[in-house]
This record gives sequence, C-alpha cells and structure tokens, in this order.
Amino acid sequence: MNLEFEFRDRMLSLGLARVSEAAALASAEFIGRGNEKAADKAAVDAMRSQLNMLEIDGRVVIGEGERDEAPMLYSGERVGTGTGPAVDIALDPLEGTALTAKDMPNALTVIAMGPRGSMLQAPDVYMEKVAVGPGYPERVVTLRMSPKERVERLASAKNCSPGDITVCMLERSRHKEMISEVRSTGASIRLISDGDVAGIMHCTDSETTGIDMYMGTGGAPEGVLAAAALKCMGGQMEGRLLFRNDAELQRATETGISDPDRIYTRQDMVADHVIFAATGVTDGSLLRGIRRASGWLEAETILLRSKTGSRRRMRYRHLTK
Ligand code: FBP
Repeated sequence: MNLEFEFRDRMLSLGLARVSEAAALASAEFIGRGNEKAADKAAVDAMRSQLNMLEIDGRVVIGEGERDEAPMLYSGERVGTGTGPAVDIALDPLEGTALTAKDMPNALTVIAMGPRGSMLQAPDVYMEKVAVGPGYPERVVTLRMSPKERVERLASAKNCSPGDITVCMLERSRHKEMISEVRSTGASIRLISDGDVAGIMHCTDSETTGIDMYMGTGGAPEGVLAAAALKCMGGQMEGRLLFRNDAELQRATETGISDPDRIYTRQDMVADHVIFAATGVTDGSLLRGIRRASGWLEAETILLRSKTGSRRRMRYRHLTK
C-alpha cells in the first residue's frame, strides 16, 4: 500500500460509508414497489454523485457492467475529484434489486475501495464460489472438493456432525444436484432467492446468522465484493469464473484474464488492504433495513477496514422535512 493511501484510508472510509448510505436512502422509496429498475437507478445516481465528491483519483473495476450497457458506474469509469490517491473501486449500488422490489430480506448497497490494482477486474460473468468464516484451518473447503466432502470437512473442523452444518445457496435450477448432494450428508440448506454477497458475509458470524458455509454459482462481480468483505471480516473463499459462450470468454480475455480455469482464492481476488461499506436496504440478519417515518429516514451501515480489522456499525438519521 502506498503511503499516501495509507495516510488517508482511515478518513476515506468515513466517506465510503456516506456513499453506501446515500445509495440505500435513495432506493428506500422503491422498497416493495415492484420496480427493480427504478430502485437500481436511484441507487446508482446517488452512489455516483457521492463518490464524485470524494478526493480520490478513482477507477471503477467492478461496476454496473461494461460501458456500452451501463451509462453510469461502468467498469473503467473514472470517479472522484481526480486529485487524491489512485484507488480502485468495486461497487454494487443495489445488491438485490428484486429483493428490494419485493421487500424481501438482505438487500444491501455495497462498495469496496483499495489502492490501484488491489482487486480482480472480474468480468460480468458467473462465478462458482465456496466460502466459510474465520477460524478454520487453511483450505478447509475448496472448489476441488465435492459438495459432500466440503460439508464433511467443515463438520470435522468444527467438531460437529454434518447434520449441524447449514449451507447457504442461491435457489436456482443449476444447483439442483448440489442441493441433493448436500442434503444427503444430513446438512441443512438456507436457500436464498438473491443476494450472495450477503449470503457469503453471513458465514463470518454463524452464531448470529446460523450459516456455516456458502456454495454455488452467482455473479463474478459479487464474488469480488464478497471477497473484499471477507478480507476485512476474516474467512476463506474460492472462486472460478464460468463462461457460457465465446463472447463471455472473449470479454474476460479483454479484461486481462489469461487462465479461464483458474481458481482464485480470496487473496487473489483482493490482493491488498481495502475498506468496505455496506448499508441495509431491507432487513437482514447482518444489517437493519431502512426505517421510514414522517420526517426522517434511518440507515444502518457496516464499515470495515482490512488493515486493522476494525468494524464500525453506524446509524444515520436523514431528515426529509
Ligand atoms: P442483482 O441485485 O444485480 O439483481 O443481483 C442479485 C444476485 O442474486 C446476486 O447476488 C447473484 O450473484 C446474482 O444475482 C445471481 O445471478 P442469477 O440471478 O443470474 O442467478
């Protein structure tokens, strides 16, 4: 980490929390209104305008998509005032657009920032993921293991039976076999309809969330964001990019991916210290969603720094009248 960034990241992290808060507050009026696009747009607009107030020479490495498909906060967009430290930014202004539109749990706004080159520029393709929280021996579970083996290894490391393990997974038809294999061990599965950044973050506090391990295929950008959260909170993760066609493979090659079969560890995805902020949009086990009352909105944010392992939980009341 360069000294300039090191000097500023404590204060920058507070700015990052404001960015994440602003996106959540802007999406609040769309909670439960059935309009995913409007909710996302409100979050994107708010996140971008807050980000541009920060004194950074920022580059979006994980954004809303490629430049031609995302008018704002696209991968490669320059953000900030352009005068501060050179930083890379991974963001998802609304992780769980459908969760927000349906007022279902665990929709978040998420953003991570680190020195230039600190985070993998993952293309917008799928990623196969496995993650556990802190405190286990290195490589206790890996992508090379079968789902059954992962449950058994984790149970043995936790000194419990497979039946005491809970695995979180996106409810998708592509996970049908994985679901039956995990269930055959006796483990239980928490199926979620969306939001695997939150799903992976839940592994870091299994006593509160009841989730021991995350596995399955979701977005690669969300994979890098989850790796940034784990870098701050502790925990292990592996990810492997999945390409559905030549066009996706080609896009990956253009972003600098030379080995399409590579298994990325958490450290490969997030190689340097980062700061991370997430704000709850709808209620979840890690963060409270936006509270609305006449005259104010309240947002809860978790703010993390990997360098110190510090965690701040902040409630911000925003007056609307
Ligand atoms: P959005 O908020 O962008 O809709 O993403 C939600 C999400 O559930 C992610 O958490 C997950 O990684 C991805 O979509 C899974 O993709 P798919 O819905 O195609 O299975």
